[in-house]
Amino acid sequence: MKKVITYGTFDLFHKGHYNILKRAKEHGDYLIVGVTSESYDIERGKLSVRDSLTTRMENVRKTGFADEIIIEEYLGQKIRDIAKYDIDTLVIGSDWIGKFDHLRKYCNVVYLERTKNISSTMIRNEESNIFNVGIATDDDNDSDVILETKYVSGLNVSDVYSSDKNVAEKFCDRFELNGWETDYDMFLKKVDIVYVRCGLSSRYDLIKRALECGKSVIADSPVALTKKQGKELFELAEKNKCVFLENIITVYLKAFTQLLWMTQGDMRGNTIRVKCAISYDNFSTRNSFADLVSLSSCMIMKILGADYKKFEHNFVRNEAGEINYGTINFSYEDAVGFIEIGNGIELENRLVITGDQATITVKDDWWNTGYFELKRQDAKHVKRYSFNFEGNGFRYLLQELLIMIRDNRYECTRLFPSESLGIIDVLEKIKKG
Ligand code: CTP
Repeated sequence: MKKVITYGTFDLFHKGHYNILKRAKEHGDYLIVGVTSESYDIERGKLSVRDSLTTRMENVRKTGFADEIIIEEYLGQKIRDIAKYDIDTLVIGSDWIGKFDHLRKYCNVVYLERTKNISSTMIRNEESNIFNVGIATDDDNDSDVILETKYVSGLNVSDVYSSDKNVAEKFCDRFELNGWETDYDMFLKKVDIVYVRCGLSSRYDLIKRALECGKSVIADSPVALTKKQGKELFELAEKNKCVFLENIITVYLKAFTQLLWMTQGDMRGNTIRVKCAISYDNFSTRNSFADLVSLSSCMIMKILGADYKKFEHNFVRNEAGEINYGTINFSYEDAVGFIEIGNGIELENRLVITGDQATITVKDDWWNTGYFELKRQDAKHVKRYSFNFEGNGFRYLLQELLIMIRDNRYECTRLFPSESLGIIDVLEKIKKG
């Protein structure tokens, strides 16, 4: 018996899928179809899949071509499947030409011509409303926002606003957008979602005006200069039913979600200390000192909560008055949070969560959490957890935003308003000295 295998996501099942399954079956006597799992698709950056795994498998089953349906869960699984199911031929569409040649050691590989003018992406784009995203900025660097948006079906960066005409014009030309504005009210009329990535001094005002117009907003962190302003923004978003997300990408990453779960669930024992170190040298000059404080305070808030009892900070400055090194201490009833921030000095970037039964460590650029280690006191070995994310991670925030808009869900569960306000409070305390 000649066994054939083929793989795909098979989202919004269409004629192209039907054709390839039919032709794959013709290459043998027994056809196995591998359907990608949801987490595998997220990991490889395919974020816009609409149908659940069950629906996608059911649609494949309904064609009657598949003798067996399996789930594809990880990169490299194809080699295991070929051996496990004793496969003769792997069939795949011509969009993958050359990509599976290395599997010829294990079985025949056949690339079939794709059916023209149809794809899941095309259907998704036709079916759904496209939301216009506008960027309010004060520089012409986009931090890959435009590129990241391209990976989320249903979003289109259309316009840019800047109070500086040169910046607006340059940004618009550089990223081939529909238009630019120096008049914020005009800009707001043209877009559905606003990404406020301006300096702190204008951030609150721009967010507020967008929310007043009923727009969904993404804003760089911290979202305001004072806790009072921040509170006002979250209340306004709730009142006007607007999705309002703070741009701290870490909390949208799957590995971080897993880590958080382990500190609160699986790690079991009590968390005693959270320590994180962060160096300014790892960031672009666009980032301010406040950004680093935001990011590291966010970790403390997420793991230990926003209701600390005591707060202390200490900064060492150079002759020019710039901060070289700083520490921030949070004292809780039964735990301690400790932040170290360095600028131009050697610092070991690391997030360490110490509990009375286990320790979790995220090495190096912990804010891009993709991998962490867990060492239980009673275990001989370290357990390693990893979950890849694509690009700079911003697409995962955008995807969450889109789902929230479509589901009419307004409360962000990745970063609660109390945590965002906690971050602003830290910055206010530091400013007061
Ligand atoms: N396929 C095809 N012709 C099409 C679309 C897909 O032959 N018009 C094939 C692919 O080459 C692949 C299989 O169907 O072998 C599953 O493809 P999948 O990625 O699930 O479908 P797409 O429509 O390409 O999805 P997307 O737009 O999300 O990439």
